[in-house]
Amino acid sequence: MTARTGDIEKAAGVLRAGGLVAFPTETVYGLGANAEDPAAVARVFQVKGRPPSHPLIVHIGDAEQLGEWVQDVPAPARLLAERFWPGPLTLVLRRGRRVSLEATGGLETVAVRVPDHPVALELLSAFGGGVAAPSANRFGSVSPTTANHVRAELGDAVDFVLDGGPCAVGVESTIIDATGEIPSVLRPGGVTREDLEAVLGRPLAVHSTSRIRVPGQHPSHYAPRARVVLVEPEKVIAEAELAQEQGHQVGVFVPPSFADAAVKAHAVVAVPGSMAAYARGLYGFLRELDQRGCDLIIASLPVEEGLGLAIANRLRRAAGPRPSE
Ligand code: TXA
Ligand code: MG
Repeated sequence: MTARTGDIEKAAGVLRAGGLVAFPTETVYGLGANAEDPAAVARVFQVKGRPPSHPLIVHIGDAEQLGEWVQDVPAPARLLAERFWPGPLTLVLRRGRRVSLEATGGLETVAVRVPDHPVALELLSAFGGGVAAPSANRFGSVSPTTANHVRAELGDAVDFVLDGGPCAVGVESTIIDATGEIPSVLRPGGVTREDLEAVLGRPLAVHSTSRIRVPGQHPSHYAPRARVVLVEPEKVIAEAELAQEQGHQVGVFVPPSFADAAVKAHAVVAVPGSMAAYARGLYGFLRELDQRGCDLIIASLPVEEGLGLAIANRLRRAAGPRPSE
């Protein structure tokens, strides 16, 4: 689905006027503001309920513009931008003066990416500047992968929602610290570590599953309302049935190797065998189980290679301690 030209013009006008536009990317929907307008960027934080110290990603229309937003581009960063943009890869580099400090949470670095979605690219081209955008959900909750998810969660708090259909990748971009000669992964995402390593010709450190290293990367994030419990794949069904007997409304992610088993639970999701399909569906499954009234979700981690690394990262965070705990 492609938004109409009139919608793109209208959305670009809203950005120019300091308003907020939710827009589709290949990963998840973003909640965008003019990256050079501190007041508009402040509203993004307010609408999301996100602490102002948690930096946003600046979306640009093409790799050629990178130099306008950062101070310098080390060789590995240039290589990754050439190879993976437009695409689900975010590069953290030293901040250029054009980007407002509000967008970077006061940091001297800035996260930049060129999204691979025709509607996002049309919007960026019509607008002409950079669009600072986090995922278009409330702080800590599940990212939206359809325009309806955005409307349901943010409603009138957004000035305009561009509908570009369901997101093809379904998990957020891979974030790379590219400030130095040796890049490292700050958040696994839509571009796999294996693909990055193949292009760089060296192994990459992954910080994501360790303690909080990045502002805005909390142990509990990407979380549905229901509590998420992770168990070994072969225990998923037994644990789900036990919890259901104990009176929980259980939602269960049945691993592909147990797809044929009958499961006594409140709601059942058959996990797709392909990691690309699983990533695409993940946030929708979590939302659906919430909607169906589940208070507990039993799931297991996929093998942590390829897109499985990003899926496992999101499931771990969904299962992480909640702020009230
Ligand atoms: O796929 C995506 O990345 C989506 C779409 C909309 O582009 N965006 C997204 O944004 O996931 P958000 O705000 O939900 O997550 C961005 C993360 C922040 O949580 C923060 O950890 C990291 O990017 N980040 C942003 N600027 C940074 C910086 N200067 N240094 C380190 N990490 C940064
Ligand atoms: Mg987010």
